[in-house]
Amino acid sequence: MLSIEQLPRVQTPYYIYDTALLQRTLDAIHAETRDHDNWHVHYAVKANAHPDILRQIAAAGFGADCVSGGEVQAALAAGFPASEIVFAGVGKADWEIRNALKAGIAMFNVESLEELEVIHEIATLLNTRARVSFRINPDVGAHTHAHITTGKAENKFGIAKEDMVHVIRQAQQMQRIDFMGLHFHIGSQLLEMDDFAALCTRVNEMQDELEAAGLRANNINVGGGLGVDYQDPDAHPVPNFKAYFQTFTRGLKLREGQQLHFELGRAVVAQMGSLITRCLYVKQAKVKKFAIVDAGFTDLIRPAFYGAYHKVENLTAATRGEGEPTLYDVVGPICESSDVFVTDYSMPATRRGDLIALRSAGAYGEIMASGYNCRPLPKGYLME
Ligand code: LLP
Repeated sequence: MLSIEQLPRVQTPYYIYDTALLQRTLDAIHAETRDHDNWHVHYAVKANAHPDILRQIAAAGFGADCVSGGEVQAALAAGFPASEIVFAGVGKADWEIRNALKAGIAMFNVESLEELEVIHEIATLLNTRARVSFRINPDVGAHTHAHITTGKAENKFGIAKEDMVHVIRQAQQMQRIDFMGLHFHIGSQLLEMDDFAALCTRVNEMQDELEAAGLRANNINVGGGLGVDYQDPDAHPVPNFKAYFQTFTRGLKLREGQQLHFELGRAVVAQMGSLITRCLYVKQAKVKKFAIVDAGFTDLIRPAFYGAYHKVENLTAATRGEGEPTLYDVVGPICESSDVFVTDYSMPATRRGDLIALRSAGAYGEIMASGYNCRPLPKGYLME
């Protein structure tokens, strides 16, 4: 549980980031990867782009996985070397491609033949070369929420695996394109290592197919997706990176000299962040008791958007140490019925003014905030 003494005295709602836990997490990843000098871990900037957090991750020697021109900019500003930045996304705009080429990023993860043609055209205009990997849709199912499954044939992502050889041959005919390798990403918040094992099997099949066609990929990127324990963040503050990385050491048949890339987002930053909110009112309605807090889905959209669960802790009530636990719906102030964080949730007796933490909110929290209802965006602070 967080303690109130660790919190800054600032206007709620806000995010608080535990940079010591972030460092432990980064160290745990290092411990599992440092013996493999052909491995590259790129932090998925989309999970949390707070400048101080980005700087800490960059300083720890990670690369960056970006999905927009803005993210490439943020990664460069935080000190990620361009040579360790990869850029994915189904809809890269011309200006984003231009800026990434000028910055000299490691490679584009290209998602269609049309995009490849545009990158080639822009590289030619800039009189430079573009390094590209192809994002292949592996058609592998993942056991997670439908909104965060990305590797099924019906998803918009990637190039159909049947088209892989064709697009690589096209790329090889383009003067300004260097074909680098293959990229995959099957989904997010995955806790079953079997999903990653299935991806390994598919990658091995794709590699066999490449070789049969006389082609070779120097880089294999297996994306991100490792999940975290939202139910009990204090039991598992650092995800099981050992099991995750071992799945790939065991499952992938890498060829001589191949570089292996990972793109972890959530697993790096989720547990180090909490959203801190204050209880405004406790309303006993006809059938329910509502704890109405000053944070809404504008600050943390995951419950409303994905039905996601974030553990709720009444930090003030914990210091009072009184009162029978009661069932509350913890809801925000937004004018939408979906603005609910948890329902029928057992908490110690809660009062106006209590500080409440929504845990495991370091990933896809602050970064997905919106200004709906003309609400100010929440700020992120580092824990003292
Ligand atoms: N690589 C690619 C190509 C991705 O699309 C993603 C996430 C990642 C890496 C990082 O995945 P992670 O390691 O964080 O699972 N907003 C949703 C999650 C969306 C994930 C989108 N892509 C949520 O709040 O659960």
